[in-house]
Amino acid sequence: MNYENKTILTGVKPTGTLHIGNYVGAIKPAIEFGHKVNQNGKHIMFVADYHAINAIKDAPLLSRLTKEIACAYLACGLNPEKSLFYKQSDVPELFEMTTILMAYTPKGFMNKAHAYKAAVDKNIARGEPTDAGINMGLYTYPVLMASDILSYDTDFVPVGKDQVQHVEIAADIAGAINAHYEKEVLKIPASYLTESAQVLPGIDGQKMSKSYHNVIPLFGSDNEIKKAVMSIKTDCQDINDKKNPDDILLYHIARGIAPESVVAEIKEGLEKGGMGYGSIKKMLLQAILDEVSEKREKYFYYMDHFDEVNDMLQSGAQKARQIARPVLERVKDAIFNRK
Ligand code: ADP
Ligand code: TRP
Repeated sequence: MNYENKTILTGVKPTGTLHIGNYVGAIKPAIEFGHKVNQNGKHIMFVADYHAINAIKDAPLLSRLTKEIACAYLACGLNPEKSLFYKQSDVPELFEMTTILMAYTPKGFMNKAHAYKAAVDKNIARGEPTDAGINMGLYTYPVLMASDILSYDTDFVPVGKDQVQHVEIAADIAGAINAHYEKEVLKIPASYLTESAQVLPGIDGQKMSKSYHNVIPLFGSDNEIKKAVMSIKTDCQDINDKKNPDDILLYHIARGIAPESVVAEIKEGLEKGGMGYGSIKKMLLQAILDEVSEKREKYFYYMDHFDEVNDMLQSGAQKARQIARPVLERVKDAIFNRK
């Protein structure tokens, strides 16, 4: 993939207690994209706090989660000098754009969107009315997301499988507008599937997820991380048995987070036999601490000095608005026949 002169945009919803699955699957790859764009390209990274209010109505909670996610990205190496970094709610141009896009979005698109369909399916399974508890924010989620993307003439949107449909909807809306006005009013974006970003298993072997309570916390204390690592599920094979590393959960977790040399050592130890699960856990623990210690320090620094983070976010929003405004004006020129 050639990223020269391209605009790459990633949005992240404030979630909850971050774990190393979030780190290897979302945070790290997003930050790495920032290193791939060149001087004439743009890397845009924002916190989707307006998307979050569809689900989170508890204001102090939303504010805490937003703060945590912003500090986490900075602590993990996002460079706001190189990547545009802001909160969605600080860019009002997005909402003018959303209103415009609504007029070109067939309602049927929304009926088919995954997030809405999943909520409907849940209601049906519970025997509740189809649309129980579903607000218009959730229903029209893909339109705001299209606005996030189209407002910056985005070329690529790195996403996991579940978000591809949303990027396709953005491309379809832009395509409909361009076709109607017979010119390129909006740039057509493409998704970039971050499939390589692997799914890290949790300490019980299911996907690591805060909902399954099986996480290794990203910014936990040494002791919390140790406790989680020591509870990783193992089997009762003899220490000297030769094992297939692919069958061993500890190996899968190590592959996601540990340096290659450590992974190779664990692989060899399992294949040859003689390396106990206790020693592997110690190696894994050390590898995780090596990876996160410095980031954790930065994270708590930013959490304690949020004014600094806020300044970065505000200045990011100013820069974002300078890009979004002319795109919006271009669209308004077309729809209101102003030029
Ligand atoms: P959780 O499953 O803990 O609720 P989220 O759904 O909030 O996590 O995920 C936030 C981001 O982290 C998403 O981009 C998701 O793909 C990524 N992510 C979450 N869990 C994992 C995992 N176990 N392995 C890899 N990536 C993950
Ligand atoms: N919908 C994305 C998610 O749930 C977050 C998001 C909002 C986003 N706007 C975006 C992602 C624009 C990419 C581009 O993870």
